[in-house]
Amino acid sequence: EKGTYPHYMLKEIDEQPAVMRKIIQNYQDANGELEIDSDIVSAMNEADRIYIIAAGTSYHAGLVGKQFIERLAQIPVEVHISSEFGYNMPLLSKKPLFIFISQSGETADSRQVLVQVKEMGHKSLTITNVPGSTLSREADHTMLLYAGPEIAVASTKAYTAQLAVLAILAEVTAKSRGMEVSFNLVQELGIVANAMEVLRDSKEEFEMIAREYLSTTRNCFFIGRGIDFYVGLEGALKLKEISYIQAEGFAGGELKHGTIALIEEGTPVVALATQKFVNLSIRGNVKEVVARGANPCIISMDGLNMEDDRFVIPEVHELLTPLISVIPMQLISYYAALHRDCDVDKPRNLAKSVTVE
Ligand code: F6R
Repeated sequence: EKGTYPHYMLKEIDEQPAVMRKIIQNYQDANGELEIDSDIVSAMNEADRIYIIAAGTSYHAGLVGKQFIERLAQIPVEVHISSEFGYNMPLLSKKPLFIFISQSGETADSRQVLVQVKEMGHKSLTITNVPGSTLSREADHTMLLYAGPEIAVASTKAYTAQLAVLAILAEVTAKSRGMEVSFNLVQELGIVANAMEVLRDSKEEFEMIAREYLSTTRNCFFIGRGIDFYVGLEGALKLKEISYIQAEGFAGGELKHGTIALIEEGTPVVALATQKFVNLSIRGNVKEVVARGANPCIISMDGLNMEDDRFVIPEVHELLTPLISVIPMQLISYYAALHRDCDVDKPRNLAKSVTVE
């Protein structure tokens, strides 16, 4: 039940710190160390390449998950949109492991790929919120999200839960391979949960940003570099699906190769700046769009912030920033939809799980 909340989406956004703590709890052993099913760890270690298959928001989580797995466990990862993969299969490695990311566990496009790769004799892991769902039953292994039911059509807490579980998978695999992980993930996810609470208490700020930038605009761009780019893709999807504003996420350096032609006087451009090594270059991209009249909304991270940034998120580990930077995206989209009188929990033309191909 949504209780005192006006919408499930807002309730589910607010639940994210609790979901983080629940995930930590469920993946901890008696000594407080992170632990996952040893068969999953073996499957990861036997793989020469991992193929992440997902759709929509879960695909965006997969893009970040690739960074976690490659950077911590050093196994190469490809991320594919499920509806494309089935018909347009890339050349596979000798020992692939398929990871299906799906909140519902029922997405037909993903299931179609699972059926195909099973027939080919490949191993699979499903990361899902729904125990006993089709993708969970049919894959060799399952990792659960423990996010509780997600009712709003726009996915929020499932995305951050997917990221947390992918980070745990990457970390446990890395350690099993004798690789050094330079931070304590349990501790870092705790810091993430606290930072989420800070953002949860900053709602008026996001409502103001939505009012200021999005109440009448026709379109909106999201830019970032590295993992900020992936969060921008998710920000654009959230905004599109519930507010019907045409929104696109771009890699900061790619805009000038064509899309910058769309920037007009007042076009909102949300820029994410949470990554130290690209902090100056993304700000350079902001200057490029401002010179064409854009209305910039820079969301940066504490420690990297500069004058004129519109919002500064609390500092978390540089690999885990998507868990935090997505929350302004979720809340800005929520308030933009409200201001534009859209049906937040049940946007037009959409269903919670897409069980047709
Ligand atoms: C976006 C959204 C969709 C789903 C996509 C995959 O807010 O909800 O893009 O993420 O349909 O669904 P699952 O994760 O259930 O496979």
